[in-house]
Amino acid sequence: MSDPVVQLAYLVSTGLFIFALKWMNHPETARRAVLSGVAAMALAIIGTCLSPGLISSHFKYIALAAIIGTVIGVPLSWVPLTAVPQRTALSHAFGGLAAGLVGVAEFYKQHAEGGHALGRFETSALCAEVLLGFLTFTGSLMAAGKLQELKFIPSRPVTYKGQNVVNLSLLGIAVFCCVLLVIDGARFQHLFPVVVILALLFGVLLIIPIGGADMPTVISLLNSYAGLSAVAMGFVMGNKLLITAGALDGSSGLILSIIMCKAMNRSFANVLFGAFGKVQRAEAAAENKIIRSATPRDAAELMENASLVVIVPGYGMAVAQAQHRVREVYDQLTKRGIRVKFGIHPVAGRMPGHMNVLLAEADIPYEDLVEMDEINPEMPQCDICLVIGANDVVNPAARDNPKSPIYGMPIIEADKAKVILAVKRSMNPGFAGIENDLYYNEKTLMVFGDAKAVAGEIAKHLAGDSSE
Ligand code: TAP
Repeated sequence: MSDPVVQLAYLVSTGLFIFALKWMNHPETARRAVLSGVAAMALAIIGTCLSPGLISSHFKYIALAAIIGTVIGVPLSWVPLTAVPQRTALSHAFGGLAAGLVGVAEFYKQHAEGGHALGRFETSALCAEVLLGFLTFTGSLMAAGKLQELKFIPSRPVTYKGQNVVNLSLLGIAVFCCVLLVIDGARFQHLFPVVVILALLFGVLLIIPIGGADMPTVISLLNSYAGLSAVAMGFVMGNKLLITAGALDGSSGLILSIIMCKAMNRSFANVLFGAFGKVQRAEAAAENKIIRSATPRDAAELMENASLVVIVPGYGMAVAQAQHRVREVYDQLTKRGIRVKFGIHPVAGRMPGHMNVLLAEADIPYEDLVEMDEINPEMPQCDICLVIGANDVVNPAARDNPKSPIYGMPIIEADKAKVILAVKRSMNPGFAGIENDLYYNEKTLMVFGDAKAVAGEIAKHLAGDSSE
C-alpha cells in the first residue's frame, strides 16, 4: 500500500487523539472521547500494517503481540475504580517497556548492519528512548506495587543519607555512557547494555523514596516520561504518528501532574524528593479533645430541616462504593425541596476526577457538582455539610496551621458550615497521615460507620419519615 495512504491514516489518527483529549474535558462528551481514542489507535495499527516496509512474514508477530496484549489488557479493564491509579501505572510500565525494547532492537539491528543509518541525532533519540522507556518500566511497576500495598514493596518512603546524590550520580553515569555512544556508537557499543541496566535501576531508586501518598502524581509524571520515550522512538524510526501521539501523551501527563501539585500546594521537587508520608503521624495526640457523635437517624433529622446541604465526598466514599446510597440521600432531600450541592475538591480521592466519575455513575446531575472555589463562598450559608469519607481535603490545618505538612493546600471549608456531619469508620487519619481538627469542632457530629451503610441508613430514615 502506498505511503500517502499510511500518512493519511496517521494524520486522521492524530486528529482523533486530539479530539479524544478535548472531549475528555466533560462527562457529557467523555464516551465520545473514549470511542475517538479507540478509533485513533485502531487506525494507527491499520496504518502501520499497511506500511510499505512491512513484509507479510511480520504479520504473525503483530498478531502474536495483539493476542498477548488482549490477554493482559482485558482483565486489566475489570479492576475496581479505586484500583485505577495502579492499573494506569501498569499500562505505563508496558508502554515504557515497549519503547525500551524497540530501542534495543533498533540499536542492535543498526549495529549488525554496520550502524551507518544511525547518525548522532538518531543515536541521541535512541538513548533518550531507552533511558526513559526502561526507567518508566521499573518506576511504574514500583509505583503500582506501592499503591497496591504489596508486602515486599513498602508504601512508605524509604530514605537514607545521600540518597539524592546516589540517584543523580547513577543517572549521570547513564547519561555519560549515552554521550559516548553518540560520539562513537561502534566503539562504545558495549556501553549500551550498561545504559539499559542503569535505566532499570534508576526507575526503582527514583520511586523508593516517594511515599504511596504521592504515587498518583508520580504516575502521571511517569506517563509523561513514557510519552517522551515514544516521541524519541518516533524520531529514531522516522514515524510521525509516534512523535505526535507521544507528544500528546507526554504533555497531558505533565499538565496533569502540575494540576495535582497545584491542588496540593506542593512543588515537583517536594513530591519527588520530599519523602511525604514519612512526616510525623500527628502533631498532638487527641487526648482531652471532645468527640460528639450522632446516629444516622439524628443525621437524617438534622438534614430534613436544612435549606442548603453541601455533601463533600472523599476517598472513603470511593472505597465504600457509597455513591448510589449518596444518590438516594440526594433524592430524598431534593424531593423535600432542600437544595443539595456537592463540593468537589480537585484531589479528593486518589485520582483526578475521582469524585466526578463516581457521582456521574450514580447519575447525580452534573450541575450540582460544584468546584471547590465556587462552593467555598457558599459554606457560611450551608446548614449541613455532610462530609462523607473525606478527610485531608476538609482539614482546616491546611489553612490555619503553618506547621502542618499539608499547610497551604486549598481545602473545602466544611468548618464554616452551620453543622458538620462527618461520616467515617474511626478517628484514623487520611492519606497525609495527620489528625483533623474538624472532627473536634463543636459544630461537628461524627457519624461512625462504613460510608455505604451510613448513607443507606440516612436515606432509609429520610424515606421512612417522608412516608409517615
Ligand atoms: P483521605 O484524606 O485519604 O481520607 C479518606 C477518609 O476516608 C479516611 O480518613 C478514612 O477514615 C475514610 N474511609 C476509608 N474507608 C472508608 C469507608 N469504607 N467508609 C467510610 N469512610 C472511610 O481522602 P480525601 O479527603 O479524599 O483526600 C485525598 C487525599 O489524597 C489528599 O491528601 C490528596 O492530597 C491525596 N492525593 C490525591 C490525589 C488525587 S489526584 N485525587 C493525588 C495525590 C494525592 P476511616 O479509616 O476512619 O474510615
